[in-house]
Amino acid sequence: MRTQVGIIGAGPAGLLLSHLLHLEGIESVVIESRSRVEIEATIRAGVLEQGTMDLLSKCGLGERMRREGALHRGFELAFEGGRHRIDLTELTGHAITVYAQHEVIKDLVAARVAAGSEPVFSVSDTSLDGLESERPSIRYTCDGEEHVLECDHIVGCDGFHGPSRAAIPEHLRSEYQRIYPFGWFGILVEAPPSSEELIYARHDRGFALISTRSPGVQRMYFQCDPSGSVENWSDDRIWSELHARVEAKDGWKLTEGKIFQKNIVGMRSFVCSTMRHGKLFLAGDAAHIVPPTGAKGMNLAVNDVRILSEAFKLLYATGSEAKLDAYPDDALKRVWRAEHFSWWMTSMLHRFDDATPFQQQLQVAELKYVASSRAASTALAENYVGMLAS
Ligand code: DHB
Repeated sequence: MRTQVGIIGAGPAGLLLSHLLHLEGIESVVIESRSRVEIEATIRAGVLEQGTMDLLSKCGLGERMRREGALHRGFELAFEGGRHRIDLTELTGHAITVYAQHEVIKDLVAARVAAGSEPVFSVSDTSLDGLESERPSIRYTCDGEEHVLECDHIVGCDGFHGPSRAAIPEHLRSEYQRIYPFGWFGILVEAPPSSEELIYARHDRGFALISTRSPGVQRMYFQCDPSGSVENWSDDRIWSELHARVEAKDGWKLTEGKIFQKNIVGMRSFVCSTMRHGKLFLAGDAAHIVPPTGAKGMNLAVNDVRILSEAFKLLYATGSEAKLDAYPDDALKRVWRAEHFSWWMTSMLHRFDDATPFQQQLQVAELKYVASSRAASTALAENYVGMLAS
């Protein structure tokens, strides 16, 4: 088998890249280790930046997002018993849409299927060969049969643990990492929204976030021990933690409901700045991870493949590799801005067990500044909606 662009991984990066290439008349094949059912059911974050919304709309994938997603023009910061609104639209002219990542995945898979280019699901033993030659290839097993896919280029969109980044010799990789000493406990709840907008709360007991999925389903998170187990968290214990962390002095109460999904995610910041090795390019979580605070992960993946699709368009139209050569530097500008923003939001809002009383007061001082200064809240809002100056 032969294709122009071989794509490993059917997450938002791989599927969107395949779609954007298809619109330019460029052939690609996407392979994925999980099944279609699994990728369409994996619960991840749900905030789309303005630029992500605009790109999905422009490439014909925005219809369900606009209909079923919720446009948010602001969010709230809760700390010290008070709540403070960050008016995104007033401060930046932009907004965000809350629309779950797995809904984006469903829309993308449907588009690939409609184009007659369904990803190859449930593959195993994926390996990459000839990355520094003119004939790179991907080897994988599907239905017990071994396949070799020859490509002009390979794009690794296979997440943090996938084989693509690992195929770059370690001594050639520049990597930067920070692991946080806490995780997020996430729940899905059958309940009406408690608040019209998202609430990011800093509390002495730890961070909490109230988000939404639909008029009948809410998404909530709270900081937890990353090595803990969901079995140790009864519904009662979860609710008492959330009530304690998000309720302010104004009498507002969080609405409870039936919890139907629980998960714990670890938190890390990670960048592999070696986003190209010969004919291999890395995109999305394969190259960089942000902690979830601020929900930048999928938006970064979308930006990577936007740049890559333009680079392949130039290559196949003119033979010029100029944009492919520029890809790592172009993508990394936004990656590092979002790395800083996500680290900053995480640092400002979470409880650090080893923080001194002095450091805790600094955290509160920073939040008060962000909430009261137009300049500081504009900086937060610009980053949140994704006007990430490089
Ligand atoms: C959600 C996740 C985030 O990390 C965030 O900052 C906001 C919302 C969510 O899943 O809804």
